[in-house]
Amino acid sequence: MSEVSLLKQLARSLMTGQLIAASDPHRLHWHLAPPVGLLNDPNGFIEAHGRYHLFYQWNPLACRHGAKWWGHWSSADLVHWCHEPVALLPTEEYEINGCYSGSAVLNDGKITLIYTGNVKYADGSRTAYQCLASESSDGSYQKLGPVISLPEGYTGHVRDPKVWQHDVLWYMVLAAQSPEIKGKVLFYRSEDLQQWQLLGEIAGTHLNGLKEFGYMWECPDLFHLDGQDVLLCCPQGLAAEKYHYLNLYQCGYFVGALDYQQAKFPHGQFHELDLGFEFYAPQTTETADGRRLMFGWLGLPDDNELAQPTVKYGWVNSMTCPRELSLRNGILYQQPVKELQQLRQGNGSQWQGTAAEAPAMAAVSAELLIGVNGPFTLSLRDNATLDWNGECLTLTRHNWRTQEAESRYWFGTLQSLQLLLDSSSLELFINDGEACMTARYFPDPAKQNLHWQGHGQLSIHHWLLSSCV
Ligand code: FRU
Repeated sequence: MSEVSLLKQLARSLMTGQLIAASDPHRLHWHLAPPVGLLNDPNGFIEAHGRYHLFYQWNPLACRHGAKWWGHWSSADLVHWCHEPVALLPTEEYEINGCYSGSAVLNDGKITLIYTGNVKYADGSRTAYQCLASESSDGSYQKLGPVISLPEGYTGHVRDPKVWQHDVLWYMVLAAQSPEIKGKVLFYRSEDLQQWQLLGEIAGTHLNGLKEFGYMWECPDLFHLDGQDVLLCCPQGLAAEKYHYLNLYQCGYFVGALDYQQAKFPHGQFHELDLGFEFYAPQTTETADGRRLMFGWLGLPDDNELAQPTVKYGWVNSMTCPRELSLRNGILYQQPVKELQQLRQGNGSQWQGTAAEAPAMAAVSAELLIGVNGPFTLSLRDNATLDWNGECLTLTRHNWRTQEAESRYWFGTLQSLQLLLDSSSLELFINDGEACMTARYFPDPAKQNLHWQGHGQLSIHHWLLSSCV
């Protein structure tokens, strides 16, 4: 479809939909969510010219997946964001079924996007092109077309390029599927972002000592952190275990050592990045001050998004809060970026004592730092609970699709929790970010408090958070 006709549809969708979306009682107060329509993966996360840019997979025309566009936000402080003009629309033959996920680099001072042009055929088959687009002086993006077509020996499921620079050369990890229907991560090199050489498969099912490990690994991201290399990826097709891999698709990481010359990435075991209900397709960037930051999609693919309560207000899904990563003893720690502390209202209130005696606390848009010594149960707006029994931390929520309760688990020695709450999401950082649990939940808007039970001793610092979107 032509750009003009798509932009007309966008204008109509925004003009009729934006106020309705904003009136949703579950609309988020301080998380990024689409103005209208469906959001999925974070794309092209980069700091450039003194601003942070976050692009995202967007269907602005409906609350369902389809031919994706790239939405675009920018921010000076990672907290207050403004929506920029849409960056990519699927107008060309080589991307006609969607400008799929990808990344951004700074090349000759210009933000350059590398993304997947997705093409589906009537017989159900598909192909994919890895494409470039470069920032123009007016902030729009000029498409430079495909630079990699489908590599030989893979199915049409090749996508989600993540590019970075190392010793003057450009490198890319790319998700791919072998003809045996196994998930792989391809590794490429380029001198100029235009000509790319495939160096080999660096990770995937049947590589680096892994046995069966999924039929597709979406959204790889590879970076150096605290002396080691980390591969993030989203394997699809792992069988659920009693306490692990409980979501439809997984998202996790391997720690290893990338050998740029030999194109090898020997690595350790797979760790889940998040033990909650919704977390997928994260993307990182390195900031000017040397931090490795990450956004994730606070959602999951193929998750019956039409059942979400926000759909009747014409929007669905959001980003996680921005998180800072660090590697300690082979574990990837995640913490909310320090900039989010701007949202805290005043000095907050502090309380210490036996859990059952703690007062009710406002929970619609709030942050809690909790020191834990002994068991407790926390009820979140009568729609989710967090239970610590001394061995297992269990997050249980009401599933809005099945109307049943469902749980996720973490085992360890619990010392502290940081809980970030928005009107329909929760993000839980365990022991300084050693593990995380992330979820949407849709409480009755009239139920605004959290309540404590149990005989454990707690110290609680509670803040209300300001709205910023
Ligand atoms: C992950 C994903 C990517 C793809 C994009 C399409 O959620 O399926 O693999 O590029 O979403 O929107």
